[in-house]
Amino acid sequence: LDNGLALKPTMGWLHWERFMCNTDCYKDPNNCISERLYMQMADVMVKEGWKEAGYEYVCIDDCWPSHQRDAKGRLQADPKRFPGGIKKLADYVHSKGLKLGIYADVGKNTCAGYPGSLGYYETDAQTFADWDVDLLKFDGCYMDWKLLGEGYMNMSRALNKTGRSILYSCEWPLYEWPHKQPDYKAIREMCNHWRNFDDVYDSWSSIKSILDWTASHQDIIAPSAGPGGWNDPDMLVIGNFGLSHDQQESQMALWAIMAAPLLVSNDLRDICPRSKKLLQNTDIIAISQDPLGKQGQCTIKVDSFEVWERPLSKKRLAIAVLNTQEIGGPRGFFIRAAPGWKICDPQCNVTQILPQYKELGVQTPHTKLVVSVNPSGTTLLTVTPTSDYAGLIL
Ligand code: GLA
Repeated sequence: LDNGLALKPTMGWLHWERFMCNTDCYKDPNNCISERLYMQMADVMVKEGWKEAGYEYVCIDDCWPSHQRDAKGRLQADPKRFPGGIKKLADYVHSKGLKLGIYADVGKNTCAGYPGSLGYYETDAQTFADWDVDLLKFDGCYMDWKLLGEGYMNMSRALNKTGRSILYSCEWPLYEWPHKQPDYKAIREMCNHWRNFDDVYDSWSSIKSILDWTASHQDIIAPSAGPGGWNDPDMLVIGNFGLSHDQQESQMALWAIMAAPLLVSNDLRDICPRSKKLLQNTDIIAISQDPLGKQGQCTIKVDSFEVWERPLSKKRLAIAVLNTQEIGGPRGFFIRAAPGWKICDPQCNVTQILPQYKELGVQTPHTKLVVSVNPSGTTLLTVTPTSDYAGLIL
């Protein structure tokens, strides 16, 4: 969507995967969906280096509203859990130099059964603008799939009409795929990013299924990604319970390669230092946010390895080698077997970013460099072609 937003994949925090629809503030005041939760996340984002690393949007997901619209037909936040209201929360988040995201649904109800926006697109867009909201995640539950496209387009226009810059995050193709192949040209024109596939869970099988779906549909979806519009493989679940550290590195590396929004869903108030360091790794974030804005792709699957490559600005390339064999120990991969390695002709400089930062020095097309990859882990490299022919002349 050409609204000047999401020129690079969006970075921020989104509550859903970790906090879901926990509305019981009596039993669980620290983790229920309430204004406190977002204020605390905003505080931590500033204090603990998240904002500095680029994480900017603090995003509310489902279960924030009251079950009834107000007398004027407007959505309202649950008064017990959001006593200050959303406008005040937005002011707070803005005072920290961050942005606020909110959630609504194109259909009659949200997926968790709260009021949907069907019949209220202009009202709700204006309400969000009046509250100074900066991002809308627009879900697709409880909607006739034949009206889905119209609905998403109408909300896009309604947001535009408010005159406020509101990043528009869609789930349009996800809900269309069971019925027809989505029109990615129309989706890109209307949305800043869009979910294509199932919700992420806190498990390696979930991450694997998202990668498999993406690899098998990349010819259809990858060309539509670029500054202003991105494919969204859903949240980062790094820092939670279900992934080993190697698997967390795989999610981080591959989400950067896929030019995916980096929306973390975890408890930033209580995260292990290693996961935090991974999420704040500036070299990986630089790949994610590379100004060329081209989505990477899976280029080869061989011997239980997957190679994913993303072209970067200045003719550089990021290569991720994922070891999908979940038995045994680290296995070696001849890096010259990566199809993109041809950019290393006549020579290149290679840096390993994951699992540890290491300069691997000058390499050539015929190099015998072997990278080691842990089971369900990923070795991530950047390759910089060098115009220095000295090595060849000698
Ligand atoms: C759908 C979406 C999720 C989340 C939930 C909330 O499942 O895909 O990302 O927003 O609804 O109910």
